[in-house]
Amino acid sequence: NNMLTWQRTGFHFQPEKNWMNDPNGPMYYKGFYHFFYQYNPNGAVWGDIVWGHAVSKDFVHWTHLPVALVPDQWYDQNGVWSGSATLLPDGQVIILYTGSSNESAQLQNLAYPANLSDPLLVDWVKYPGNPIIGPPKGIYKKDFRDPTTAWRTSEGKWRITVGSKAGRTGAAFVYETEDFKTYRLLPGVLHAVPGTGMWECVDFFPVSINSKNGLDTSTNGKGVKHVMKVSLDDDRHDYYSVGTYDVIANTWTPDNPQNDVGIGIRYDYGVFYASKTFYDQKKGRRILWGWISESDSEKSDVLKGWASVQSIPRTLLLDQKTGTHLLQWPVEEIESLRLDGKDFNNIKVEAGAVIPLDVESSSQADVVAEFEVDKAAVEAVEVSPNEEFNCASSGGASQRGSLGPFGILVLADPSRSEQTSLHFYISKTSSGSLKTSFCTDQSRSSQASDVNKQIYGSFVPVLQGEKLSMRILVDHSIVEAFAQGGRTSITSRVYPTRAIYHNARIFLFNNATDASVLASVKIWPMNSASIQASSH
Ligand code: FRU
Repeated sequence: NNMLTWQRTGFHFQPEKNWMNDPNGPMYYKGFYHFFYQYNPNGAVWGDIVWGHAVSKDFVHWTHLPVALVPDQWYDQNGVWSGSATLLPDGQVIILYTGSSNESAQLQNLAYPANLSDPLLVDWVKYPGNPIIGPPKGIYKKDFRDPTTAWRTSEGKWRITVGSKAGRTGAAFVYETEDFKTYRLLPGVLHAVPGTGMWECVDFFPVSINSKNGLDTSTNGKGVKHVMKVSLDDDRHDYYSVGTYDVIANTWTPDNPQNDVGIGIRYDYGVFYASKTFYDQKKGRRILWGWISESDSEKSDVLKGWASVQSIPRTLLLDQKTGTHLLQWPVEEIESLRLDGKDFNNIKVEAGAVIPLDVESSSQADVVAEFEVDKAAVEAVEVSPNEEFNCASSGGASQRGSLGPFGILVLADPSRSEQTSLHFYISKTSSGSLKTSFCTDQSRSSQASDVNKQIYGSFVPVLQGEKLSMRILVDHSIVEAFAQGGRTSITSRVYPTRAIYHNARIFLFNNATDASVLASVKIWPMNSASIQASSH
């Protein structure tokens, strides 16, 4: 349907057609970033799941390859579900994935490249001894999936974890292996949290507390913290938490129980699910991929013939200032798509003002903005009546408070009959300190009626001396936004009908009643990436 082709993205990864979900088995191998993904070759809805496969040299331009793994065995007849890759020191490449069997049991399986000298890793072999792991005693056969990348203990044995649940308690089981063919279930669980339900796509990896480098998955010891991430099947969000891994006790413990996985901090306060990280040994960084589903109707997906994109891969680091948050930032390579940028410096946005920023077309853009709220106004403001401000229950961009909302409107047509806001809202607490929220308001994002128009976001830590800052990647029907250097992020899917191509504009706005803000914005129109079919 041509009417909807403008919703396709210019620089986000997507297959040429059909349904995509989770990122699978990302790795860097012999000069190529490999990306696999849950894919339905037969339609734009979930089903008949295989592993799609693509490669890139830079995370920007991609070549699609033939599907890597298809359901052709009894143990994966219902789908080749999510899994991860592990690079072994001797050069072997291991993939572990969940097969949904002929009886819909979730069984873990081993696959490896048919030819290690092929940098494209086009052909894959399933281990004849599959399945290698079945559900532990007492675990329902449909609650046991998505094996992680393996990490190596100081004893030289490999471990993986697999998500599950028992009753309403989400849990992660750990298995130990020496050869990836036979496994031993370790006693206890790596971690479990009551009330969180099924844990999908568990991720478990080290972060450095004192360097700017990512860490290989097996790194442990001094100066290392371990992050656990779970994808909650019940609420479709990815939660992470920073904590300590005790390799002998086989347990991971969150630093702060209030930030435990499943109840605490999210990677993203919009649409972002079933994410997975890997260690990029080429550049010494950890990279996060997340599945960004549609928030229009299934009917529209079928009409347009595709569903879902992937996030721009994000570099992931521990935020050493808060110790609780991770910093997520689009990989630097994406900046190679920036065209001539335009600066708007020190623009005073009075309370109640909306200011158009003069750039021709912004359906593909990279926007960086900084805000300073008038200090005298902040001092003068009374304690906010609604100390418990919450983006989701707020009135969004149009509900005026003393110190917010203010920020940026993207995918807005010139008359602003459509607009999507990314904004800050500051409350003064009874102790006199400030609390800042970072929100998006999609209520006016589209004239279409069958799309999600929620308002959402989260509290974002703002430390002494920091300016408020945001970065926004706009790409037709996806907006990825990052506040305070990536401490809090919000991804949304929006479907404007008028704010498209050259009618997609950007505005500054300030709907605070009591304060002007000083804004500096830089906008780069973005080139398109080349995402091509292969000759295979
Ligand atoms: C998460 C998930 C995984 C599963 C896969 C199936 O979105 O449900 O748990 O392996 O998708 O496509």
